[in-house]
Amino acid sequence: MELSPNVQRIKYAIRDIVITAKEVEKQGKKLYYFNIGDPNKFDFDTPDFLKEALIEAITHDKANYYSDSAGDSQLRQEIINRQKRLWGTDLDLNQVLVTTGVSEAISFIGSALAPGTEILVPSPLYPSYLSYFTFNDITPIQYRTIENENWQPDVEDIRRKITPKTQAIVIINPNNPTGAVYSPNTVKKITDIAGEYNLLIISDEIYDLLTFDKGSFKSTTSLTDVPVLELNGISKTLISPGWRLGWAILRDNTGKYDAFWEALAKQSRIRLCASSPIQVAVSKILNKESDYLTPVIKKLRERSAYFSKRINEMDDLSVIPPKGAFYAFPLIKKDIGDREFVIDLLKSTGVLFVFGSGFGELGNGHFRSVLLPDIETMEKALDLVENYMKTLNY
Ligand SMILES: Cc1ncc(COP(=O)(O)O)c(C=O)c1O
Repeated sequence: MELSPNVQRIKYAIRDIVITAKEVEKQGKKLYYFNIGDPNKFDFDTPDFLKEALIEAITHDKANYYSDSAGDSQLRQEIINRQKRLWGTDLDLNQVLVTTGVSEAISFIGSALAPGTEILVPSPLYPSYLSYFTFNDITPIQYRTIENENWQPDVEDIRRKITPKTQAIVIINPNNPTGAVYSPNTVKKITDIAGEYNLLIISDEIYDLLTFDKGSFKSTTSLTDVPVLELNGISKTLISPGWRLGWAILRDNTGKYDAFWEALAKQSRIRLCASSPIQVAVSKILNKESDYLTPVIKKLRERSAYFSKRINEMDDLSVIPPKGAFYAFPLIKKDIGDREFVIDLLKSTGVLFVFGSGFGELGNGHFRSVLLPDIETMEKALDLVENYMKTLNY
């Protein structure tokens, strides 16, 4: 069977590294998993009210049918209500498309655009964008985010990298892998550039409620009138990554993106629908008053502070303390490749991070850690890292 050469371009460091980790584990080493952004693998759980809503959806509501391809209309209405409640943005039903996670929305975007299109993406970035885009012959052009400015985007670099082929600018805020929360002022500058050059803003806000400083984050749709395609979902803020539910919102008053939007909708029709029971369950609780995130954020804030303190006490590592999401992206201040570093550290200590170059060009020389393990586990793992770092003193 002859395979598509495009498959060769699929890379996903976050899971690819697990293959090496499993080999190390087989040799009897205890592993410390700091690689995957899944809170449910640690001491976080899906809220009970969401679990109960799912039971009700499949029993009382019998929502075991195929839903509309664009999504259950009640859920779409609740997504609109959420957007209004949190960020004051007005939307209507046909501006919402429900997907099987944000991942599916990224895949739809990649397949909708003409080969050769250029899309500006932050660097470092969540790697799905690189893989889905290159898989579809779209060129992701990486713009700089500045480490010593709390990983804020370099607005002038965005401007410099626009060409006649550029169609969109991706913003990931709060950011994976850096844990940065972009200042509203910076986001506004980026959207102004999009307005100037007629580009679509694609704003991934999957961590929108997971910020450590109250009020630091603003949804892009609340900051500008330029066309914005927002991507969001329940994996992180409703602590249910395995449920696979997300959505895309197109806020466009110009009509310029109608055909593009239809290209996404068409793809949603060939895959029939996102999971109906999950949609019905989420529609029941999406705007429910609840403070379930308060203890989650408290833990993340404490773990972020502990992790950052420990890393910054080590001679050859440093980290910008994260402000949101649940990742940190330390710098390796040694003349060693990040991939080699992560694999050698794994083999020596059992501590599993993801090599930074898996997150784009500016990830080189870094590694990504999740902030999800409890402090006790972090302490053990970081003691091992500290001792390992001493062995690198050549
Ligand atoms: C920035 C970002 N976007 C999208 C996703 C994938 O989201 P989903 O689980 O909704 O497919 C992730 C997962 O880690 C992410 O970090």
